[in-house]
Amino acid sequence: MTGPTPAFWQQRFDQRQTPWDRGGPSPQLLSWLDSGALAPCRILVPGCGSGWEVAELARRGFDVTGLDYAPAAVQRTRELLQSRQLAGEVLQADVLHFEPQRPFDAIYEQTCLCAIHPDHWIAYAQRLHQWLVPGATLWGLFVQMPRPAAVQEGRIEGPPYHCDINAVRALFAGSHWHWPKPPYDRVPHPSLSHELAVPLTRR
Ligand SMILES: C[S@@+](CC[C@H](N)C(=O)[O-])C[C@H]1O[C@@H](n2cnc3c(N)ncnc32)[C@H](O)[C@@H]1O
Repeated sequence: MTGPTPAFWQQRFDQRQTPWDRGGPSPQLLSWLDSGALAPCRILVPGCGSGWEVAELARRGFDVTGLDYAPAAVQRTRELLQSRQLAGEVLQADVLHFEPQRPFDAIYEQTCLCAIHPDHWIAYAQRLHQWLVPGATLWGLFVQMPRPAAVQEGRIEGPPYHCDINAVRALFAGSHWHWPKPPYDRVPHPSLSHELAVPLTRR
């Protein structure tokens, strides 16, 4: 299969090469939570990494499921929940195969799409749609990381793969998702340039 494997991510965790990791919950998640835009519900965090967002959601009373296919990510997230005496489900699964028993009321997608090779983006986007009940929101943070070799020579480089807003629009088409009007919040990242924060409502 094209792109990174679970072993690739496991190695990054083992070698502590995790530049995407903020060491705490994303400021954008906190902003959505503090404003009440994102209220307690049954929520999925795919590609949850160290689990900072999973723990924050659990702390705020969400029925949260974190999912990752790297054993280290699952272990870190479970340990974080345990150390804070928080309840939450943490599953080891590949987002390209995961089949939830029932759909979710919300998904918090932070830098999982950009971790997957673009060959699999359509399949992943279709799954995100299937995993949500109609009217539910995909709280998306889409990494903006254009590289000169991509723009000038058409090379596909990553992870993180650049999630250009036009590609995101093609993946989450207006026929299946309600798009709020731009401009979208720009969320600075210490090492990944920035993300665009776009809450998409499943039709
Ligand atoms: C860039 S990290 C982001 C982690 C976390 N969301 C954050 O922002 O700190 C990507 C995460 O997605 C996981 N991942 C990548 N591809 C995956 C897949 N196909 N299924 C499940 N998890 C995946 C990796 O193991 C890694 O933990």
